[in-house]
Amino acid sequence: MKYSRAKVIEDTKLQGGILDVLKAVQAEEGYLSDDAIAEVAKAYGMYPSEVYETATFYTMLHVGGKAEHVIEVCGSTCCDAAKAAALVAELENELGVKCGECTADGKWMLRRCECLGRCDTAPNVMFDGELIANARAEDVIAKIRKAGK
Ligand code: FES
Repeated sequence: MKYSRAKVIEDTKLQGGILDVLKAVQAEEGYLSDDAIAEVAKAYGMYPSEVYETATFYTMLHVGGKAEHVIEVCGSTCCDAAKAAALVAELENELGVKCGECTADGKWMLRRCECLGRCDTAPNVMFDGELIANARAEDVIAKIRKAGK
């Protein structure tokens, strides 16, 4: 069956709140585009800027584009204590983007995420859905280059 954003918004709105709707749209589309945010805002009688504020407040929601490869660096307490911010800085430098952005060619997205449930191996990175525990910048960068940066 063909995906319908309007149907997902309508169905999810009946069962939950705006966060549920945003998560449902993201699950279908990979991220929250400006169009999707505007459509959700219309469904709730809100301004798109209000929905955008919500979408950018929660780290499990993603705006800023869709990429072929997604690197998520845990942004929760244990990983931050294990210098995840420094890791992000090195990955930003490698990819030439700021965290939360896609590369211009649409190949790479770098972003923070919520606790991955592996706090004992902080810092943790999800690389295209694969966990890298005790992540070191050189390991992640090697994977980026292997994937054909
Ligand atoms: S704080 Fe990073 S995995 Fe829990």
